[in-house]
Amino acid sequence: MRDHFEVRDHDAAGRIGRLTVPRAGVTVETPALLPVVNPNVLTIEPRRIRETFGAELLITNSYIIRSTDRIRDRVLSDGLHEFLGFDGAIMTDSGSFQLAEYGDIDVTTAEILEFQRRIGSDIATPVDVPTPPDADRERAERDLETTRTALADAVAADTGDMLVNAPVQGSTYTDLREQAGRHAAGTDLDVFPVGAMVPLLNAYRYADVVEAVTAAKRGLDPDCPVHLFGAGHPMMLALAVAMGCDLFDSAAYALMARDGRYLTVSGTDHLAEMSHFPCSCPVCVEHTPADLRAAGDDEAERLLAKHNLHVTFEEIRRIKEAIRSGTLLELVERRARGHPAMLDGYRALLDHADQLEATDPVSKGTFFYTSHESARRPEVSRHHDRIARLTVPETLLLTESKPPSSHDYDAVWRVKPPFGPFPRALSETYPLTAETPERTDCAAQLAAAEGVSRLVEANPDTAVTLGHADWDPAALAVVPDRVAIEDITELGR
Ligand code: GUN
Ligand code: ZN
Repeated sequence: MRDHFEVRDHDAAGRIGRLTVPRAGVTVETPALLPVVNPNVLTIEPRRIRETFGAELLITNSYIIRSTDRIRDRVLSDGLHEFLGFDGAIMTDSGSFQLAEYGDIDVTTAEILEFQRRIGSDIATPVDVPTPPDADRERAERDLETTRTALADAVAADTGDMLVNAPVQGSTYTDLREQAGRHAAGTDLDVFPVGAMVPLLNAYRYADVVEAVTAAKRGLDPDCPVHLFGAGHPMMLALAVAMGCDLFDSAAYALMARDGRYLTVSGTDHLAEMSHFPCSCPVCVEHTPADLRAAGDDEAERLLAKHNLHVTFEEIRRIKEAIRSGTLLELVERRARGHPAMLDGYRALLDHADQLEATDPVSKGTFFYTSHESARRPEVSRHHDRIARLTVPETLLLTESKPPSSHDYDAVWRVKPPFGPFPRALSETYPLTAETPERTDCAAQLAAAEGVSRLVEANPDTAVTLGHADWDPAALAVVPDRVAIEDITELGR
């Protein structure tokens, strides 16, 4: 039992939770974004990050502090909170990132955890090994063994009331990610970052991100708070939350600002090329792109970083509200339209619809069918599973139109793409209240045909007639042969 994390609400595998950080004396609502603060370069003062954006958590790097003479002694004597001027909760990383970048670091898990405890970190990190994507399997397994040892050292360390991360590695091997997740969940460590995602995120390999994270989630327990290490681009946060990630850290806001990049929920724009700011944050209301270009590099960087954080926090609030109202997958679908790489991520997520279905509420906000991907949502497969359990009479008409005024069937049910058949009495029941376009598409018809065949297979003695409105031949081919098929657009009913 992890009593420091409580899930309050679900949508798909996404959740609203409460993470209690005892050493900081705070409880924060998740999903939460931790701005990355470089202890050497405070692009925006942490105090301002708290005041302006309401950030309750941030993340900084204890390895950098420990290896920078100029600041180490000050942080040791004053404490991290005083040094940064931040009274929320502070997570510290360990130097694993430097390990991945430069291949070698001069600190052990025991040493860096002790250092993190001494400087007053609230959530500490052992020295995990971030195996890059597409590594040799032997290397991924070897590295995972080293990470396991690091977790064991962290369990053995005297960490007091500081929470400790248990990173989940495994490169692009989904079985290793799942195994690593199960191992991490079996320790008494507290927060579960999925690691080595930065190369995948930088390359926009969102489908691979989804495969790695959904695999890790299969190994982790539902009460494990999950952090997606290195993820903070607003474009992908809804997708990541829908998989069940609770914490994010954004260096993107500052790194991108340094390169003159302007973040949006559908990608990254270049200040150099912009004429208008499509945003209503204070920076974008008070300045034009030309103003920023004329402001000088440091000022432009600071203002861009501020805008970048505004859009990122705005997206986090939008995601929380979507979970509350049960429309998270609608939001993910909108984001999937913003960039083809996001569409790959969403399609990969739908390959795991069963995993999302396990925690998806049975009733929530109205289902909107807005793309052919909607036909693969977990609400559709759940209805298909339910169809097989419905009680049916001897003769049954399934029709997309109103019931005929006179007929000889024992019952007339509705057919609604993408769900398929259901008794009219269920019309007001979620998800059958869905808003679907008048002009249905082949994917919705195929899914509805799948629903018809589930009904027919479960009820071999029922005579079934299907009245469809000009369905695609590919969808009709899915309907079992013994179903009588009528095109209602030809019958005029
Ligand atoms: N920051 C980004 N990725 C990682 C990771 O895999 N491990 C650690 N410790 N920090 C990270
Ligand atoms: Zn803005």
